[in-house]
Amino acid sequence: MGRGQGQRNAPMAGLTALSAAVGVLLASLLLLRQEDVGQGADASMAETGVLLKLREDFRSQNKSVFILGATGETGKVLLKEILDQSLFSRVTIIGRRKLTFSEEAYKNVIQEVVDFEKLDDYASAFQGHDVGFCCLGTTRSKAGAEGFVRVDRDYVFKSAEMAKAGGCKHFNLLSSKGADKSSSFLYLQVKGEVESKVEELNFDRYTIFRPGVLLCDREESRPAEWLTRKFFGSLPESWASGHSVPVVSLVRAMLNNTVKPSDQKKELLDNKAIHNLGRARGSSAQGHTEKGA
Ligand SMILES: *[C@@H]1O[C@H](CO)[C@@H](O)[C@H](O)[C@H]1NC(C)=O
Ligand SMILES: *[C@@H]1O[C@H](CO)[C@@H](O)[C@H](O)[C@H]1NC(C)=O
Repeated sequence: MGRGQGQRNAPMAGLTALSAAVGVLLASLLLLRQEDVGQGADASMAETGVLLKLREDFRSQNKSVFILGATGETGKVLLKEILDQSLFSRVTIIGRRKLTFSEEAYKNVIQEVVDFEKLDDYASAFQGHDVGFCCLGTTRSKAGAEGFVRVDRDYVFKSAEMAKAGGCKHFNLLSSKGADKSSSFLYLQVKGEVESKVEELNFDRYTIFRPGVLLCDREESRPAEWLTRKFFGSLPESWASGHSVPVVSLVRAMLNNTVKPSDQKKELLDNKAIHNLGRARGSSAQGHTEKGA
């Protein structure tokens, strides 16, 4: 008897969870419908022209950039896009091991190998960069709770401190949707805490990116993200896009934002702002496009 009951309970719990999910979904759809009224095509054409000009101006300033976390999913794509757009005259990646690149485009990338436990010994690696991107991070499942805090809070903060001391003017931090230093979730709490610690360093310009779930092609290493993606995949695109963003869009948003002069000391880009700033013409359906048979 006990056995039969156990078997009945599992699907019941599943059903309850499902109907809760459907409720959330419907509510989200209603909210999204109001916001999604499209922007005029003319406006975005003009925007693109402006962006090209901004990029040109930016290039002519021969700036130097560093990337932390260039082996990660975002950092990798960011490095590639920075090289593709030739936005900087000096590109440095700072990491804990030397990488080998076979492509010609990477031949001028400067590599600084550091020990994150002794960053004070590596001040020169952080010297003289105008712009910095920090995409450093691990997960609790990879590094354990302590390891996660060590990397996502301590290494990130220390790197920011070194960058500031080295003269960095514009620091970009990859954070997360929901980052909140008073959150009871370790992940969101640490993200929120490091956001505000870095703010105290007082960069001339400080940009925080808070994307939702990042969509990329490395399913096997992130089962939870993969599942989420599967789940999103069966939901209306408008709902999914409120809670996730393709890595490529994130990276474009980072660079589109960087080339735009700003007089704001602190900028906070949420998932929606990242979508808006990172959309590429004609590729909004990237990854969903079906080739005709
Ligand atoms: C940037 O570099 C180019 C080519 O080396 C040079 O012609 C130009 O004067 C430099 N611009 C600035 C602002 O230093
Ligand atoms: C951002 O940059 C991409 C190219 O990297 C461009 O195609 C896109 O139109 C830009 N988005 C906006 C909103 O300017």
